[in-house]
Amino acid sequence: MGNKTLLFGFSCILLAYYTYMPIPENIEEPWKVRFIDILTKITTLTATLFEYTGLMNFEHLFFIITKTQYIEPISDENLTVIDTEFSNIPVRLYLPKRKSERQRPAVIYIHGGAFVTGSFKMRPYDFVNRMTANRLDAVVVAPDYRLAPQYQFPAAIEDCIIVIKSFLQDKVLEKYGVDPAHICISGDSSGGALAGIVIQLLQDDPEYRNKIKAQAMIYPGLQAVDTWMPSYQENENGPFLSRKLAIMLSMQYFTKEKELLNAILRNEHMPKGSRDLFKFVNWSHFLPEKYKKNHVYREPIIGKVNTLCSLLSDKRLSPLLVNDSQLQNLPLTYVITCEYDILRDDGLIYVTRLRNAGVPVTHDHIEDAIHGAISFSTAPMYLHSGLRIIDKYISWLQENL
Ligand SMILES: *[C@@H]1O[C@H](CO)[C@@H](O)[C@H](O)[C@H]1NC(C)=O
Ligand SMILES: *[C@@H]1O[C@H](CO)[C@@H](O)[C@H](O)[C@H]1NC(C)=O
Ligand SMILES: *[C@@H]1O[C@H](CO)[C@@H](O)[C@H](O)[C@H]1NC(C)=O
Repeated sequence: MGNKTLLFGFSCILLAYYTYMPIPENIEEPWKVRFIDILTKITTLTATLFEYTGLMNFEHLFFIITKTQYIEPISDENLTVIDTEFSNIPVRLYLPKRKSERQRPAVIYIHGGAFVTGSFKMRPYDFVNRMTANRLDAVVVAPDYRLAPQYQFPAAIEDCIIVIKSFLQDKVLEKYGVDPAHICISGDSSGGALAGIVIQLLQDDPEYRNKIKAQAMIYPGLQAVDTWMPSYQENENGPFLSRKLAIMLSMQYFTKEKELLNAILRNEHMPKGSRDLFKFVNWSHFLPEKYKKNHVYREPIIGKVNTLCSLLSDKRLSPLLVNDSQLQNLPLTYVITCEYDILRDDGLIYVTRLRNAGVPVTHDHIEDAIHGAISFSTAPMYLHSGLRIIDKYISWLQENL
C-alpha cells in the first residue's frame, strides 16, 4: 500500500469522524467547536505516537502548538505594553497611557494550560489583558510561571507568589500609580486554580492578609481528589478537553509515575487516610440539584496505589480541600463555569462552599460553551462564546474592582 493510499484512508477516517462526531445540540457555533475538538483529538493521537516512538514527551507537542500563538508586546495609542521581570520571573505589563487623577485598579492574570503549556505571550491572553487594561483603565500584570514537567509542583505557585509580592510592594504600586485597595487576582483553568491557591496562601500570611480585594476564576480546576464527578462523566470525551487528556497533561505537574495515570483514570488514586477530605468535595452535598441529574455518588477508592502520592491530599494542589473557616477569609469572588467542561463541577462546588462560608460570590454559568473557550476567542477561530466570557469577566471587574 502506497503512502498516497494511506493518506487517503486516513483522510477518509478523519472526515467520517468529523462529520459524525456528536456535538451537544445546544452548543454555540457547533462547526467551530467540532473543528477544535477534532484538531485536539488528532493532536492527542499524534502526541501519543510521538511519545511511543520516543520522539518527544506527550505534553511537548501541545507546548509546541501553543507556542505558535505567541505574540510580541505591542503598545498602542492607549497602552504601553512591555515584557519585563519581577524578581527574575517574566511578566507582561499593560500600562494605561492616559493621565489619571486617581490611582488605578490592577489585575494580576494567571494564564491556563494544564500546568504544562501556555504563556502570557499567547494571542488570546494578550487580547484579554489588553482589553482589561483598556476598559478598566487598569494596570494588568501577567506572569509566566515555570511549567511542568520540567518544573513540578509547587514551582508554579512559588513563581506566582513571588510576582505578586514583588508587585505589592509600596514603591512598585506607587511607580505604576496603582490603588492598593483595588487589586484582583484572576486566572483561567489551571491559572484559575493558581489564582485560588495563591489567594488562600496570601490570606494565611499576616503580612499579606486582606491585601487582595477580589479573585476571578474562569472555568477553574480546583481538585484532584474525585475524577468521576458528574461533569467528568458527562464530558468524558470532550468536546475539546477530554477527561483523559486533562488528566494526562495536568498530572505531569505533580508526578512522573506513569502508573498513577491509570489509577487516576479509575478514580483509585487517593492515598490511605485521605477519606476525611472527601467531605470537602462531595458533589452530592454541594452541586445544585439541576446538575446532579441521575448521577449516583460513588466514593473514590483509597489505598490502591503503592506509590503514595501525599501531594494528592495537599490543598495547594486542590484548593477545594480547605475547611470552612479558611474559606471565610477569602475575598469577593467571581466564578465562570461552562456546561461542556469536565471541570464544571469543581467551579460549581467552590461557588456553593464559598457562599455557605459567607463569601460574596458572583457566578455565571455559560450553558452553551466549552472548556477553554477564551483560548479560541482570537484568530483563527474567533469563538463567540470565548468573547462573551471575556466580556462578562471584564464587566464584573468594572463593577466590582
Ligand atoms: C483607545 O481608547 C479609545 C477610547 O476608549 C478607544 O475608542 C480606542 O478603540 C482604543 N484604542 C485601541 C487600539 O484599543
Ligand atoms: C457523600 O455524600 C453522600 C450523600 O449525601 C453520603 O451518603 C456519603 O456518605 C458522603 N460521602 C463522603 C465520603 O463524604
Ligand atoms: C481549618 O484548617 C486550619 C488549617 O489547617 C486549622 O488550623 C483549623 O483548626 C481548621 N478549622 C476547623 C474548624 O476545623
